[in-house]
Amino acid sequence: MKLKGKHILLGITGSIAAYKAAILVRLLIKEGAEVKVVMTTLAKEFITPLTMATLSKNPILVDFFDPENGQWNSHVDLGMWADLYLIAPATANTMGKMANGVADNLLITSYLSAKCPVMIAPAMDLDMYQHKANLKNIEILKSYGNIIIEPASGELASGLSGKGRMEEPEVIVEKVIELFSVKKKLVNKTILVTAGPTYEPIDPVRFIGNFSTGKMGFAIAEKLADQGASVILVTGPTHLTTQNNSIKRIDVQTADEMFSYSVKHFKSCDAAIMAAAVADFKPIKKSAEKIKRGKDDFQINLVPNKDIAAELGKLKTKKQVLVGFALETNDEFKNAIKKINTKNLDFIVLNSLKDKGAGFGYDTNKITIIDSSEKHVNFNLKSKSDAATDIVNMLADSFLKKKI
Ligand code: CTP
Repeated sequence: MKLKGKHILLGITGSIAAYKAAILVRLLIKEGAEVKVVMTTLAKEFITPLTMATLSKNPILVDFFDPENGQWNSHVDLGMWADLYLIAPATANTMGKMANGVADNLLITSYLSAKCPVMIAPAMDLDMYQHKANLKNIEILKSYGNIIIEPASGELASGLSGKGRMEEPEVIVEKVIELFSVKKKLVNKTILVTAGPTYEPIDPVRFIGNFSTGKMGFAIAEKLADQGASVILVTGPTHLTTQNNSIKRIDVQTADEMFSYSVKHFKSCDAAIMAAAVADFKPIKKSAEKIKRGKDDFQINLVPNKDIAAELGKLKTKKQVLVGFALETNDEFKNAIKKINTKNLDFIVLNSLKDKGAGFGYDTNKITIIDSSEKHVNFNLKSKSDAATDIVNMLADSFLKKKI
């Protein structure tokens, strides 16, 4: 019983492949999982709630509340209960709504509330599957960290043949087992991550900032949490949200605030990854009132901000790992090595603004990781989420090397 005690929320949408969900539930239960089923209204046309309730041994959830007695079906509770949310079959319609946060049924509100891993097994006709809109939605769902179980190729219900058939229940269950059996690399580790820009106020309405969006730091925080770490994410202003419950988020605005929280928490951490684009300078004094126009010659006097990474480098013990970033436009390697030494880093993640698709705002990054002995690995251009996995793997290796 490879899924003993696991809570699996199964979402069924309106596809002919819904009949396979019956076999899926049986197989999951055979492996020891507890299964709850949420269906869309259309899914009920393809497979009856009675069949699914009998097989899953739990009442089927479709509506936000029970029309008979008004009892509320809490999507938040379902999201908290689940160790995995498996949506199989997933139609193009449901995936489109999931990708865009259109929360018009319980299946989707549960998705938006779920803190657990989400696996999606699409099922549709080949042309629908290949449509740019659908492929784009799949890419969006992947960028949220959802796992897509690629559909198989073969004969489809329409009579056509091609890619779109929901993967067989046996294969889906194997993938579920695989997900739960992956050994997490960072259990019992607490890791500090800085992310985003900092804003240095000039007056009550203006600031000095930069174009950082925080995407790289947030992706790292998620990947660390996926590997079992507790994460303290100190972030500058950003619209991004965190997905994983093990991320404790501290929002700051200025470099000074980021400095204080980072120094305060570093003591209790096993590592820190400094992904923030900290403003190097701040106005010497914030004007209490809005600065008025009309001056011919206006200057703002700046003073340097404290270097957070360098400070943590001074505080670092033999039992801690410190990782920095270097965003360079020229002499990349030389500058990165210099930063490893001045900040006492274990390794540095180098981005060059010369590389296409790398840097602020992009969803992709091209990184080189250089360690303190100047050994380096060049990675290809990939999604920030995949680049974060490379960084997290490097961190796990550093722990092993340092025997932490
Ligand atoms: N960093 C920091 N605090 C600062 C400045 C930078 O913690 N006040 C960290 C960044 O988060 C990054 C690393 O130091 O991990 C290098 O940042 P970068 O901006 O590339 O370099 P700087 O040290 O600011 O040097 P320069 O801007 O002159 O290249």
